[in-house]
Amino acid sequence: MKIGIIGSGNVGGALAQQWVKAGHTVLIGAQFPLSDKNISLATQIGEDRFAVIENAVKQSDVILIATPPTAILEIIEKMGDVSGKVIIDATNSIGKIPEPYQTVYHALSDKTDAEIVKCFNTTGFENMLNPIYNGEAIDMFMAGESDEAKTIALQLSTDAGFGSCIDFGKSDKVELLEKFALSWINIAIMQGHGRNLAFKVVRR
Ligand SMILES: NC(=O)c1ccc[n+]([C@@H]2O[C@H](COP(=O)([O-])OP(=O)(O)OC[C@H]3O[C@@H](n4cnc5c(N)ncnc54)[C@H](OP(=O)(O)O)[C@@H]3O)[C@@H](O)[C@H]2O)c1
Repeated sequence: MKIGIIGSGNVGGALAQQWVKAGHTVLIGAQFPLSDKNISLATQIGEDRFAVIENAVKQSDVILIATPPTAILEIIEKMGDVSGKVIIDATNSIGKIPEPYQTVYHALSDKTDAEIVKCFNTTGFENMLNPIYNGEAIDMFMAGESDEAKTIALQLSTDAGFGSCIDFGKSDKVELLEKFALSWINIAIMQGHGRNLAFKVVRR
């Protein structure tokens, strides 16, 4: 797939590395493509994978948003026409609501014609770099209206090494998925259990 990643920090950087390894064409769309902050990622994935947001979006079929949620309205302006593209929202608006919207997913739904899915927001970036615990892959989770976007999210979560990508439901479950992320943050950080823990759905 041709994937544009907007936000090359913890989450964008981790998924960029995983998707490059899986053979995808990854282009980072950044405000300042070869800034000092991006040098270590550029060393991992190559300097030629950095562009300005407009160009990264034009050249990609799938876009990952991994920025502070409050940047989304500015990013939507810069992305231009995204109709027919899939956008994956990996952000969490907890404490940083992208007003007047509750979440980035809602802003994207209102302002673009893209196929949108919320995914890759429910666990720490360390688990995106390495989703294997005791030989087993942990799970990813997604929510949204678009079946097309969910098919892509499922494939990309498998390609990043996750076990299943469990469907939380439609857009009415997007905020629940952010609360699920907050549950991970609560256990890992607030309750002090550490970031090396993860969720997996088991069945019998
Ligand atoms: N950290 C985690 O473990 C984790 C896990 C799941 C979900 N999330 C969510 O994922 C999102 C990103 O988190 P992160 O930890 O990866 O953050 P981060 O390391 O701070 O990276 C944020 C990235 O967004 C870019 N950015 C900031 N403002 C921008 C703008 N106006 N336009 C374009 N790019 C902009 C930054 O670029 P510059 O460096 O140039 O400013 C940076 O590359 C957040 O919404 C967070 O809630 C985080």
